[in-house]
Amino acid sequence: MGMMLSRPPTEVRLQKVIARSGITSRRQAELLMKQGRVTVNGKAVTVMGTCVDPKRDHIKVNGRHLKPAPPDVFLMVNKPAGYVSTMKDPEHRPTVADLLDKKSVRTFPVGRLDYDSEGLLLLTNNGEIAQACLHPRFHVEKTYLVKIKGHLSEEALKKLEQGLTLEDGATAPARVRKVRKVAVNSWIELTIHEGRNHQVKRMLQAVDHLVLKLKRTKFGPLNLGNLPLGNSRHLTDRETNALRDLLHAPHEPQKPTQANKKALWAKSTKKRLTKHGAKTSQQNRVKHRPRRPEESL
Ligand code: URA
Repeated sequence: MGMMLSRPPTEVRLQKVIARSGITSRRQAELLMKQGRVTVNGKAVTVMGTCVDPKRDHIKVNGRHLKPAPPDVFLMVNKPAGYVSTMKDPEHRPTVADLLDKKSVRTFPVGRLDYDSEGLLLLTNNGEIAQACLHPRFHVEKTYLVKIKGHLSEEALKKLEQGLTLEDGATAPARVRKVRKVAVNSWIELTIHEGRNHQVKRMLQAVDHLVLKLKRTKFGPLNLGNLPLGNSRHLTDRETNALRDLLHAPHEPQKPTQANKKALWAKSTKKRLTKHGAKTSQQNRVKHRPRRPEESL
């Protein structure tokens, strides 16, 4: 049975409240609702999108009272090199969990930093915000201070800024700043909003530079600041609010870069060729010709 509750904005979708409590995923919660296994104030609720006030409404799942969601926790860690950015490691290497207060509520890292990378790692127990930080649609920027072998030429800088093609596709344009030269090496600052595996190292490799050190200094609205290496701290209210704002920020559709267009074209051509065998451009054109009315009969 559906419910029409007309109450103010403390209300949240029922499936979200169930997922937040940690007993199951949002999708599974929807299934349970459809099966009539979720009740609100004693009545089964099967209508998706029904909103409830978790503080006032009495919610039961499979006959059991739903426990309130644990409070959100947001931590920032300055990960040193030589630690994996997961909470457990099958190879028994040091993990970021070793850097946290043992009593801190269960959190998980948002994204990854390589074993030999340093810097800002966000940890939280809020899955929704973690997902927004990682989803390409939200364009969350990450800034890295990178020590490279050699000096970055203007041509290489331009390539990074325009977007270049890696084996898993074209990168979006990066912002690049030359910071300083140190004898035969140099430091640069690179800002990207994608988060592919070893992306910075691979982008620099594509312009013939080896990465010697890599440190993340910014993650979306967060700044590493002067948090000492190996330390962690809770985010301030201002920082937490800035993260929550990400969920409501308008996300612009990504404009294809030159490299992106080329990669998309190559990808779609490859797909066509592998699916249908090699075709002439004439045959491909016929495929996209608008259908005449009689053809659809
Ligand atoms: N890019 C990399 O190559 N490594 C990291 O740790 C982060 C971004």
